[in-house]
Amino acid sequence: MKGGTGKTTLAVNLACLLSETTKKKVVILDLDRQELAAAWSQVAGNLPCSVVKSGNPLDLLKSGKDVVVIDTPGNLHAQETQQAIRAADLVLIPCTPSPAEMEASRRTVGVVRELSQKPCLVVINRLRPGTITGRAVEDWAAQLGAKVAETKIQLREAYQQTALSGWVNKGEGKEELQSLLIEILDLVANFSKTNTL
Ligand SMILES: Nc1ncnc2c1ncn2[C@@H]1O[C@H](COP(=O)(O)OP(=O)(O)OP(=O)(O)O)[C@@H](O)[C@H]1O
Ligand SMILES: [Mg+2]
Repeated sequence: MKGGTGKTTLAVNLACLLSETTKKKVVILDLDRQELAAAWSQVAGNLPCSVVKSGNPLDLLKSGKDVVVIDTPGNLHAQETQQAIRAADLVLIPCTPSPAEMEASRRTVGVVRELSQKPCLVVINRLRPGTITGRAVEDWAAQLGAKVAETKIQLREAYQQTALSGWVNKGEGKEELQSLLIEILDLVANFSKTNTL
C-alpha cells in the first residue's frame, strides 16, 4: 500500500500471468491513473490483459470480465483505495524488507481488517537473499499479524524492466510469480469454499 512497494509491478505481472495461464478475461483497473498510465502506456496494447482507468469492479465483472486486478494509489486513506479494499476478494499487500516498511505494512493490515473480512496476503517484494535484511525478513513477517506469502519476490532487473517490456514472461522472475499466483488462487478458493459450506 505504501509508495514504491511494488503494487503496480505486481498487479500488472500477476494479471498478465493469470490471463496467459488460465485464458480468463482479466482486466487491470488502474485506480492510480498517473502511475500505470505513464509507465505502461507504450506497451499496454501488447499485454495479455486489458487495462481500464476508471469503472467499478462489479460492473466490469457484469460486462463479461472474469477477474479484476485493482492497482491502488499509495495512499491507504484515499477513497479509491478503500473502495478497492471493500470490493476485493483478496487484498495483496506488497512489502519491501525493511523495518520501516514492515511497520507501515502492519498499519496497512490493520486498516484492511477494519474494512474487509476477505483474505489479505502480505507479499515480501524486492527481497535480496543473503543480505542482513533478507535474513531478518521471516522474523519481521511473523510479527505482522497477517498471512505472509511463502513465495518471496526477489529484487530483479527483469521486474524493473516490465514497465518497458510489459511483464516478466520468462525466467526466474516468472517462476516465482507463478508460485505466488498459486498461493493467491488457493487462498481465494479456500475462503469461498469455507464460506459457502
Ligand atoms: N521485485 C522487484 N525487483 C526490482 N524492482 C522492482 C521490483 N518490484 C518493484 N520494483 C521497482 O520498484 C519501483 C516501485 O515499484 P511500483 O511502481 O510497482 O511500486 P508502487 O507500490 O506501485 O508505487 P506507487 O505507490 O508510487 O504507485 C519501480 O521502479 C519498479 O520497477
Ligand atoms: Mg503504483
